[in-house]
Amino acid sequence: MRNPGKPTLHGERITLRPVTADDADVMVAGLEDEESNRLTGTHEIFTARRVEKHCAMVAAADDRWDYAIEVDGRMIGEVVLNEIDWDNRSANIRVVIWEPASRNTGLGTEAMRLMTKFGIEEVDHHRIELGVYAFNPRAIRSYEKVGYTLEGTRRDALYWDGEWIDSHTMAVLAPEWEASAA
Ligand SMILES: CC(C)(COP(=O)(O)OP(=O)(O)OC[C@H]1O[C@@H](n2cnc3c(N)ncnc32)[C@H](O)[C@@H]1OP(=O)(O)O)[C@@H](O)C(=O)NCCC(=O)NCCS
Repeated sequence: MRNPGKPTLHGERITLRPVTADDADVMVAGLEDEESNRLTGTHEIFTARRVEKHCAMVAAADDRWDYAIEVDGRMIGEVVLNEIDWDNRSANIRVVIWEPASRNTGLGTEAMRLMTKFGIEEVDHHRIELGVYAFNPRAIRSYEKVGYTLEGTRRDALYWDGEWIDSHTMAVLAPEWEASAA
């Protein structure tokens, strides 16, 4: 495993750059998007103070990669590589595009592709995994396009609006990533 620091990552249409303390206002606004909160299973309501502390914490951390997804210098969401297991070379990944108009346009998929590439090729992860709720077929499709495979299901993992929702675990392994890139 390596720790390559936090370089800016350039995609075709997006730029990924490390979250800073100055991103708190945009993140607070993003966390008001009800659809994003439902799809990510976010029950909590975050105060501005808590988001400020979070942004400062992740900006200073050297064991997680919290990146802003930017289009033309505007932060439209975030992609995060966290829960790093250095011994087993694995990590968790999550993504959200807060702006409704920017979803379904391939930008979230591009962000996942860039961060997955970084995690496997630069941090030297063997395994990157994620959780996705069964009521989010768009995200499942997006992750499949990047190369993630369904591994299993945590039944009734989320209670939302009076209903129990399953959570699927998906993951990509370094050899699969390298084979698909070849
Ligand atoms: C999930 C997310 C990152 C996906 O990124 P995106 O850039 O919007 O996705 P894309 O536009 O590349 O691809 C979406 C795919 O899902 C498909 N899709 C869209 N709605 C769908 C639906 N209801 N059922 C099945 N597939 C659907 C699209 O057709 C497309 O597939 P295709 O390229 O084969 O046609 C983004 O939509 C997002 O942030 N959503 C809100 C928060 C969220 O859900 N986060 C993930 C939590 S696990």
